[in-house]
Amino acid sequence: MFSLSLGEGARLGPLEIWHAEEFAGHLDRARDHIRPWVGPSFVTDDVDGARATLKRYAERQAEDGSRLYGIRRDGVLVGGVMFTDFHATSGSCEIGCWLEPSAEGLGLVTRACSALLDWAFTSRGLHRAEWHCRADNDRSSAVARRLGMTLEGVRREAWPYEGVRHDKQLWAVLASEWRAPEQ
Ligand SMILES: CC(C)(COP(=O)(O)OP(=O)(O)OC[C@H]1O[C@@H](n2cnc3c(N)ncnc32)[C@H](O)[C@@H]1OP(=O)(O)O)[C@@H](O)C(=O)NCCC(=O)NCCS
Repeated sequence: MFSLSLGEGARLGPLEIWHAEEFAGHLDRARDHIRPWVGPSFVTDDVDGARATLKRYAERQAEDGSRLYGIRRDGVLVGGVMFTDFHATSGSCEIGCWLEPSAEGLGLVTRACSALLDWAFTSRGLHRAEWHCRADNDRSSAVARRLGMTLEGVRREAWPYEGVRHDKQLWAVLASEWRAPEQ
C-alpha cells in the first residue's frame, strides 16, 4: 500500500505476516547467498519458517522494537532492510540488510538504509545507529562506510559459522554525524 521509491524500479515497503509465501519464495533465491553473513534464525527453509520470522518482527514492532521492510524490484521481492534492534528509551538501534544476487550492485540497500536512518534520527530522535557484520563481509562493510559509519571495533571470533569463529565488526553513526549519502 505505502512504499518509498529507491530508484532502479525498486521500492521499499511493508514485509508483513501475510507476505509469508512471497518471502519464502524470495528466500529460495537468496538462501545460499545470505547464509554465511546473516543470523541463522533468519535463513528458514519453508513458508512456516518465513512466516515465523515475519511474526517475530511484527510482534516486536508492536512494542516499538525491531522492524522489517521489503525491497521489491518490478514487483518482485529481492531483499530488505531491518531494525535488528530498536530502543527508543536508550536512543539506539541496529540496522541490517540482505539482497538476493540479482539486486546487488544497484545501491538499493544504501538508499533503503538511509531511509531507516533518516526516520530513526529525524522522526524518532534516536542518538546512535549500529551495524554489525562479519569482518570478512566486504560488501556489508562497504555499505556501512557509504552510510558514513565509523568502525568502532572488532569483537574477536564472535561470529561462529560452520565450525569456524569469525571476527565481527561493529560500525556506528551518531545523529550529529548523520547526513544521507549523495544519490
Ligand atoms: C550486503 C549486501 C546487502 C550489499 O549489497 P550491495 O548491492 O553491495 O549494496 P548496495 O545495494 O548499497 O549497492 C552498492 C553497490 O551498488 C553500486 N551503486 C550503483 N549505484 C549506486 C548508488 N546510487 N549509490 C550507492 N551505490 C551504488 C555501488 O558501486 C556498489 O557496487 P560495487 O560494490 O560493485 O561497487 C549484499 O551483498 C548481501 O545481501 N550480502 C549477503 C547478505 C549480507 O551480507 N547481509 C548483511 C549482513 S551484515
